[in-house]
Amino acid sequence: MKFLLISFILLLTQIPCLADSVIGIIPQPLSMNKGEGYFTINKATTITCDKDLGKAAEYLVDYLPLKLKKGKNNNSVRLVLDQTLGEEEYVLCVNGKGIQISGGSYGAVFNGIQSFLQILPSQIYTKDSEFPLEVPYIEVKDAPQYSYRGFLLDVARTFQPVEEVKRVIDYMAYCKLNKLHFHLVDSPGWRIELKKYPHMAKIGGFRGGDSPLHPIYGSFDQKYGGYYTQEELREIVAYASQRNIEVIPEIDMPGHSKSIGTVHPDIRCNYSPDTSHTNGLDVRDVWCVAKESNYQLIEDIVKELVEIFPSEYIHIGGDEVSFKWWKECPDCQQLKVEKGLQNEAQLEQYFINRVTEILAKYNRKSMVWDEAVDGGLLPTTTMVTGWRGVKHCLRTTEQGYPTIIMPSSVFYLDKRQSPHERGHNSKNGLSLQTICDFTFEDAGFTEAQRKNIAGIESAFWSEIYLSNISSEVHFSDYLEYMIFPRLFAVSEIAWSKSRRSYDEMVSLLKNSFYSKLSALNATFRLSSPIVNVENGMIIASVDDGSKLYYKDIRTNEVKEYLVPLDVALAPYITFQSRLMSGRSGEVGLPEYYNYLTPACNITSSLPFRENRSLERCETYKGDATSTRAAKAGDWVHFTFDEPLKASYIKITTGYKHLYRRLIYNGHIEVSYDGQNFTNEGNLLNGQFILHPDKHIYAIRIVADGISDAEEYVIIQPLEIK
Ligand code: ACM
Ligand code: ZN
Repeated sequence: MKFLLISFILLLTQIPCLADSVIGIIPQPLSMNKGEGYFTINKATTITCDKDLGKAAEYLVDYLPLKLKKGKNNNSVRLVLDQTLGEEEYVLCVNGKGIQISGGSYGAVFNGIQSFLQILPSQIYTKDSEFPLEVPYIEVKDAPQYSYRGFLLDVARTFQPVEEVKRVIDYMAYCKLNKLHFHLVDSPGWRIELKKYPHMAKIGGFRGGDSPLHPIYGSFDQKYGGYYTQEELREIVAYASQRNIEVIPEIDMPGHSKSIGTVHPDIRCNYSPDTSHTNGLDVRDVWCVAKESNYQLIEDIVKELVEIFPSEYIHIGGDEVSFKWWKECPDCQQLKVEKGLQNEAQLEQYFINRVTEILAKYNRKSMVWDEAVDGGLLPTTTMVTGWRGVKHCLRTTEQGYPTIIMPSSVFYLDKRQSPHERGHNSKNGLSLQTICDFTFEDAGFTEAQRKNIAGIESAFWSEIYLSNISSEVHFSDYLEYMIFPRLFAVSEIAWSKSRRSYDEMVSLLKNSFYSKLSALNATFRLSSPIVNVENGMIIASVDDGSKLYYKDIRTNEVKEYLVPLDVALAPYITFQSRLMSGRSGEVGLPEYYNYLTPACNITSSLPFRENRSLERCETYKGDATSTRAAKAGDWVHFTFDEPLKASYIKITTGYKHLYRRLIYNGHIEVSYDGQNFTNEGNLLNGQFILHPDKHIYAIRIVADGISDAEEYVIIQPLEIK
C-alpha cells in the first residue's frame, strides 16, 4: 500500500511535467487539420513499409516498439512512397483506418515520421512509453521552404565523441534539418584520420601537454583532444543518412590552419617569421599559395575524404585568412605578380580555384565562406556560406552566388542569449525572439536576391564549449542550453513557408516542447525571470511555472526564492529559474552589474599597445592588450590609492567571455600592508576571485610560465564589490 501511495505521488509529480496540453508541430507545417476522435495504438498495432523505407521503419521502431510486418491492415502505421508527391513533400494521416505517412522520397517520409512523433505524447522520446497510446485524428500536408537546412558543428575547437555527434544529429532530425556542416579541421585541431598522413590526426588532433600544439580554450594543464577514425566517420555518415542528413565535411583552408602547419610545417610559406613576441613559436596559420607540393597534398587529402563522405559539396573554408603572412612570403608575392593578381584576396581566390579544380576531378563541388568571393574572381557557381552579416549575404545573392544564409547576428547559436549570460560575444544577446522576428523582407532581400538563397544554416562554434563541459552535468548540457529552443526558431526559417510568431512559439514551448525536451533529457533555456524592486524589496517572478533560485556571488550559495528579499542584496545576487531539464540564464538587478572603481595605478613588465594601454584598465573603461606573449616572471601590478575594503574582487586575464589570450600559468599575490606580498593561489583559466577579509593595498598577477603562447595577453579591469 505504501509502495502504491509513493508510486501515486511520483505519478502526480511526474506526469504533469511531461503532459502536452496542445498538439503542435515544429517547424510549422504547411497545413494541419485535426479531426474528431482518436486512433489507439496498442501492442497488436504493426508497422509496415514500402521496400526502400526499411531504415526509416527501423528508426520509428526505436521510438515506438511495434512489430514490423508485411501486409497492410487498419491497425497499422504505414510508411509509403508516393511518387505523386513532391521530392520532399509528405502527408501524415491519422484516422479510423490507422496511420499513414506517405512521401515523395525517403527523406519526405522520414520528416513525416518526425511530425508523427511530435503529435504523440512526449513520453515517446524516452523510448519506453507504454501502450495503449491515443493518437488524435489529424491530416498534415507539408513540404519545406528550402532544400538545404543546415547546422554547423565545430568539433575542431572542442572534440566531441562519436556518441555526442550522433546526439546532435538526432536533434537535427527532430527539427527536419538535413545538412550537417561538419567543421572537422581548424587551427586548434585536426580531427580526421588520414591513412597516408597519420600524424596529422595523431599529433595534430591534440594540444597542450607534450603536443607541439599549444593549449587554448581551457584544459590548459593537460593534453587535450581526439580525432575520428575513418571507420567512425563512416559510422557518423551512415547514422546521419538514416536520419535524412547529409554530412558535408569542412577542411578550413587556406587560413585557420595552425594545427596542420604545426605538425606538417611544409605547408607554410618558405621564410622564417619574426617570433620575438611569441616566445619563439611559429604561429603562422595559412597554407602557402605558391607551393605546388601543397596542391598535391590537398589532392591526397581529398582522395581519402571522398571515400568517406558521399556529399555533393565539400566545404573548403576561405574565412578570416591572415594576409599578413603572404605579404611577407617572397614566393606568394612572386606568384601574385606572375598571375596578374591585384591583391591578397585574389591570391586567396587563386588557391580556392585550385582546390575547386581538385574537387572537380573527384566529381565534387566546393563550398566557401563569404570572404572567399571578396576578390571577385570566383565563378558564380560557387556555393557560399554567408556568415559575416546580413549585408554580405545581400551582396553575394546580388552578385549571383547561391548563398546559404547564416549571418552570425541571427544564426550563430554559440552567441549568448542575453547580455550577461555565458556565450560568445553579442552585445544585446541573440535571443529566441531575434530569430523568430527575422524575415528576409525586413533584412532587405529583393525577389531577385531571394532566388539565390540556397538554404539556411545555424552554427554551434565550440570555443566556449570545452570550458563548460563538467562532470556535474552531462557532456552536451551547454550545447543543448545554447541550441534549445533557438534551433526550433531556425528550423522554422529553413522549413516553414508560414512561420510562428515569437509569442506562438513560446506558448507551444510551454505547452508541449519543454516536455518533449525533458523526455529527451535535453537541457534547454527558459526565458529569464523578471526582477524588480518594490518598496525596498527585490521581487522576482516567472510566467512558466518554473521554480526560482538565487545565488550570492560572495559565497556561491544557491537558495530557493520564496519571499521578497532585502534590496541591500542587489549588488550580490542573481536569479535563475528551473523547470524540468530547463533553466534560465542568471539575471541580476542593474546594481549587480556595477562594480566599485577605486583609484588605482597599474604597472607591468609587459609592454602594451598604445590604443589598448593599461590606462584603460586603470580607469575601468576596458581591457588592455600587450604587444607580446607573457613568459615566466612577467607581472602586472595594481596599487590602490587608498587601502581597499571589498568583499569580492575578480581578477581576469584574457577575454571575459572566452578562455583565450590569457595567462594560464600564473598566480596572484596580495599585499595587505603595502610592503609584503602573500601568494593567494594559482590562476584558474586566467582568473582568480578574492574574498578579502582585510584591507588590500596592492594585487599582483605573476606569470609562472608561458601564457597561452600566442601573440599577446589581455588584462581586464578588476571587478570589485
Ligand atoms: C566563421 O565564423 N569564421 C566562419
Ligand atoms: Zn607563401
